[in-house]
Amino acid sequence: MTPSDSSPRPIIIDTDPGQDDAIAILAALASPELDVVGITAVAGNVPLALTLRNTRMLCELADLPETPVYSGCSRPMVRNLVTAEHVHGKTGLDGPELPEPTMAVQEQHAVDFIITSLLAAGPDGITLCPVGPLTNIAMAMVKQPAIVPHIREIVLMGGAYWEGGNITPTAEFNIYVDPHAAHVVFTSGVPIVAHSLDVTHRALMTKEWIAALADLGTPVGTACAEMVTFYERFDEEKYGTLGGPLHDPNVIAYLLDPTLYDGKDCAVEVEIASEKTMGQTSVDWWGVTKDEPNCRWIREVDAEGFYALLLDRLSRYK
Ligand code: RIB
Ligand code: CA
Repeated sequence: MTPSDSSPRPIIIDTDPGQDDAIAILAALASPELDVVGITAVAGNVPLALTLRNTRMLCELADLPETPVYSGCSRPMVRNLVTAEHVHGKTGLDGPELPEPTMAVQEQHAVDFIITSLLAAGPDGITLCPVGPLTNIAMAMVKQPAIVPHIREIVLMGGAYWEGGNITPTAEFNIYVDPHAAHVVFTSGVPIVAHSLDVTHRALMTKEWIAALADLGTPVGTACAEMVTFYERFDEEKYGTLGGPLHDPNVIAYLLDPTLYDGKDCAVEVEIASEKTMGQTSVDWWGVTKDEPNCRWIREVDAEGFYALLLDRLSRYK
């Protein structure tokens, strides 16, 4: 499915904010190249009630309270919910003090919104941008398989191969939380671009970048600086690095400038049988299985260009 003109690209962001989700959402909302037709919250980093609250808080921080926000699935398809307060704090968005949101939550369930939007989409379809567990996306595919041809592309943050896991030795958090949903998505036949830990760990924040956020002197700049300062402490301690990765915004940066990235079309499978390696993404990088590639697995990023693009977008808020 190739775009027919240069009009804004319709996207749905599916998210579990999460400080890195927050930067992705704010960058997307500030980018005229993208038409954020809706933001769907899913349980992940913290329970659904908090990811929904955080999504609304971020839309209000962006001064875009009319953004359609939807409440999605409160738990994975099969397994119990695993959350990550140890990384993101008890609210999921620790760092800044932001006012409780007052903006509306749409009546329609997120899964039904994804279905109805896709079925009503124009000839170029809609790009799905999941940056949390894939529960909402998979449930939409299971409930209404007819949506698949209307999905232009799924550009997601999730998985790990060369880098190893971040929630178990072999699995990345988003895939681990709902491996069955990930299996549904990766076997759906929809074109997928995966931004795994393999690429996100190659673009670490710098103190200068965080200072530049604060120096914007705007509510968004200040809140983002406070968010990532809180958020990066965990990865700095764990990996012994100066600076932590900012996973989810890679999805948005890829849509805005795909030349920042490089990867390879690979056959990717999700482990859903072994408890030991549950949620592992097995990436056939060298084509040894002869299986048909189902995913573009991103591995290279222009880190400087990535952070410059994010700062440019975040600087557009007044
Ligand atoms: O493993 C990183 C992913 O898990 C990111 O999406 C982060 O927000 C958490 O959801
Ligand atoms: Ca996330």
